[in-house]
Amino acid sequence: MKISLTQKYNVPGPRYTSYPTVPYWNEIDFTLEKWITSFQKSFLESNTENGISLYIHLPFCESMCTFCGCNKRITKNHSVEDVYINAVLKEWSLYCELLPAKPLIKEIHLGGGTPTFFSVSNLENLINGIFKLADKAENYEFSFEGHPNNTTYEQLKKLYDLGFRRVSFGVQDYAEKVQKAIHRIQPFHNVAKVTFWAKEIGYTSIGHDIIFGLPFQTLENIVDTIEKTNSLKPDRLAFYSYAHVPWIKGNGQRGFNEENLPKDSEKRMLYETGKKLLAANGYHEVGMDHFALPSDSLFKSAINKKMHRNFMGYSASKTQLMIGLGVSSISDSWYSFAQNTKALEEYYKILKSNQLPVVKGHILNNEDLIIRKHILNLTCELETSWDKDLYFKELPEVLLALKEIENDELIKIEENRIKITEAGRPFVRNICMAFDLHLKRKSPETNLFSMTI
Ligand SMILES: C[S@@+](CC[C@H](N)C(=O)[O-])C[C@H]1O[C@@H](n2cnc3c(N)ncnc32)[C@H](O)[C@@H]1O
Ligand code: SF4
Repeated sequence: MKISLTQKYNVPGPRYTSYPTVPYWNEIDFTLEKWITSFQKSFLESNTENGISLYIHLPFCESMCTFCGCNKRITKNHSVEDVYINAVLKEWSLYCELLPAKPLIKEIHLGGGTPTFFSVSNLENLINGIFKLADKAENYEFSFEGHPNNTTYEQLKKLYDLGFRRVSFGVQDYAEKVQKAIHRIQPFHNVAKVTFWAKEIGYTSIGHDIIFGLPFQTLENIVDTIEKTNSLKPDRLAFYSYAHVPWIKGNGQRGFNEENLPKDSEKRMLYETGKKLLAANGYHEVGMDHFALPSDSLFKSAINKKMHRNFMGYSASKTQLMIGLGVSSISDSWYSFAQNTKALEEYYKILKSNQLPVVKGHILNNEDLIIRKHILNLTCELETSWDKDLYFKELPEVLLALKEIENDELIKIEENRIKITEAGRPFVRNICMAFDLHLKRKSPETNLFSMTI
């Protein structure tokens, strides 16, 4: 029996929001001192020219969605807000003491958990607190994630006044059966309301997150969800493949069985159908799993080959240094990664002793830096090339391993470049895996990654 390309290539694999991927970080060689030296060097190289980025993780959610793979803490008790904001500002002040000059901030992204769990005044205290110690760069871009069930007009307005112009709302799927299974009842009118408010206030990029492959999700559900989405015309869309990773401690993926999940070709069909409908409504696919209207900055940056991929997914531009604040946040100095503790109590405890709450990381060597660039090229531009700078000694083996993918017409290998074909788009993660030397040297012994398709 002939197996389909989806069956052939649907294997566990990283999402490549970093290279090396987190399970392959060399924690033995990493120290806090090395991280400090690394971000200081990166700051000196980039602050005055482009500025830096801040990712701020706001972990609280009022209710647990059972599909969610994010680092979150479920509570209805809002007294946690002040304590958390003060801790984040303390962490920021520790960074600023270590930076050799006043930081210039080009990007801020508030992610979660649920940033809109926080009151208007706490969000304001957070942003004002950050700018007590920093300046805004020219053409700054601030964005946040909003939950349609609890985002208020006042939050949208305040964040707009503080400089935010981009917001993404978690939609997932509109079907009741799916919403029940993922424990997230969210009627269409909630999403419509926050989308209209954001437009009315003046946000220039409104995004919706949709997921294919959720429990009980059918083709009709995807058609309906995309049609409803089209009626609201968000500027961009993340169309994620559901990542089923129940082995990750505390992520709460339960309330449905494996058999309830659409798999392989059935799951792929959900994606292909969604993609066709989006294309018919003027959306262009950019990178992996993202779509944008031609007027959106992500589409423009994809065309100009300026798109970047990091732990939050895609961004329209890149800064060399990204400092991650808050529990579980990951920072990136380009030369190294550092991750904060994922445990809230430990986060507070370490900050109390006036230390950065970094607990692990990775210092990239020359080989890592070259492969990182190839993987970024593949995930952002769907092609990569190797001249003197990006050649590495294992390249002939990598090309040999890619031969089969070329025979399946998913890539074209030219003299010094490879290009992913239109048919190869769903397989970008598999193509990146051929370049992933850490993965090649040591395949995982336990479940680490979600399926690639
Ligand atoms: C932090 S949430 C967005 C903000 C807010 N908490 C909400 O739910 O609306 C980020 C997004 O990650 C995506 N996501 C979370 N878990 C996922 C999973 N297991 N597979 C695929 N996407 C996932 C969802 O689309 C979600 O909207
Ligand atoms: S999807 Fe959003 S609201 Fe739901 S648990 Fe995850 S972070 Fe919280």
